[in-house]
Amino acid sequence: MLIRLLYLSRAAGAITGTVTGSILESAKVHNKVEGITGVLCQGQGLFIQILEGERRSVNRLYNKLINDKRHQDVELVSLEEIKDRKYPNWSMAHVVISENDPIIQLKHPEFDPFSASSAQMLALIDDLLSQSSPIN
Ligand SMILES: Cc1cc2nc3c(=O)[nH]c(=O)nc-3n(C[C@H](O)[C@H](O)[C@H](O)COP(=O)(O)O)c2cc1C
Repeated sequence: MLIRLLYLSRAAGAITGTVTGSILESAKVHNKVEGITGVLCQGQGLFIQILEGERRSVNRLYNKLINDKRHQDVELVSLEEIKDRKYPNWSMAHVVISENDPIIQLKHPEFDPFSASSAQMLALIDDLLSQSSPIN
């Protein structure tokens, strides 16, 4: 059974290139083995991540993730059973959320991650993804 899980968290410190690089490196290797696909968004001290895959694999990763000291205040936003993956080709796409991003200013000016619905987050992520380069 496939599920899609969306969560939000606060970075524990500055989100440097080294932090992101090491997270994406784990994701690239581990997610391929586990059949997990998704998107990691970072910016403004936050992470928003979408994980898709078999329920057991996604849960195993999520349980590991919530204990990762690189972030805190992990908040589960939504979890749904899905028939098809939205991001089948990306072991973990990576997008940066920046206040100055024209997509955010024009299409999502009121975006507040801690009060946004999962549908609003998915819409924002899809808009940001349409202009970024995913990691396969
Ligand atoms: C925001 C965030 C997102 C992460 N995303 C993933 C991911 O998609 N896949 C993954 O394997 N590890 C991810 N990690 C890292 C895991 O928490 C963990 O460190 C990694 O899987 C290595 O685990 P291991 O030492 O048990 O092998 C993420 C960590 C953070 C802080």
